[in-house]
Amino acid sequence: MKKKIYSYENQELEVTWDLKRCIHAKECVHGLPEVFDVNRKPWIDPDQESDSEKIVETIERCPTGALQYHFKNKENPEQPPSKNKLVIAEDGPLYAYGNLKVVDSEGNEVMRETRLAFCRCGASSNKPLCDNSHIEAGFESGCSYNPERLELEPQEEQGGELLIKLIDNAPFVVEGNYELVGGDQCTETQKRMSFCRCGASANKPFCDGSHKKIGFQTT
Ligand code: SF4
Ligand code: FES
Repeated sequence: MKKKIYSYENQELEVTWDLKRCIHAKECVHGLPEVFDVNRKPWIDPDQESDSEKIVETIERCPTGALQYHFKNKENPEQPPSKNKLVIAEDGPLYAYGNLKVVDSEGNEVMRETRLAFCRCGASSNKPLCDNSHIEAGFESGCSYNPERLELEPQEEQGGELLIKLIDNAPFVVEGNYELVGGDQCTETQKRMSFCRCGASANKPFCDGSHKKIGFQTT
């Protein structure tokens, strides 16, 4: 994974922005245009808003986690949402929100986050994360899914850690409690599922083994 992190400060807060993770979803620009202004240099200026809580609220809506914040004199208050959620973007990434622990094939932790956007088209040069390559690749996937694959079971627990295991040259596997959202479909489940990240599955967003046929490489 690539990183290019820029830092912006006011007296209370440090805001960081990872250029490699930003896919220009524009939540920031629409949420607080005085602070996040792409026509200004630097484009982020936390001094433009005296209420740091408003900056924090906007940052927490950044769906990729490109924007993060750190209070200088107190604990970082960002908490994962009470439910883990995976949201399928039409012809785009899989957004993950929650108590996310991402591990590699050997189980080594590679990220612990509350907001991430995973590549689904297979074309990102920043795998496993989305870098907007789906646009140039003309990725067409819709956002619906077959709910029968998720075996609807009553949920006793919600939240908790969502483990996302990146399998080399293959899908990522999700374990834990989560809600899968695609368009107006929404299913709560605890089913361990493999999500396609090569772009070739005929049963998106789930893996159907097509990554082997196309010789998908994750590095
Ligand atoms: S909300 Fe996040 S991903 Fe979207 S433009 Fe702002 S920094 Fe980039
Ligand atoms: S990762 Fe795409 S079909 Fe398995």
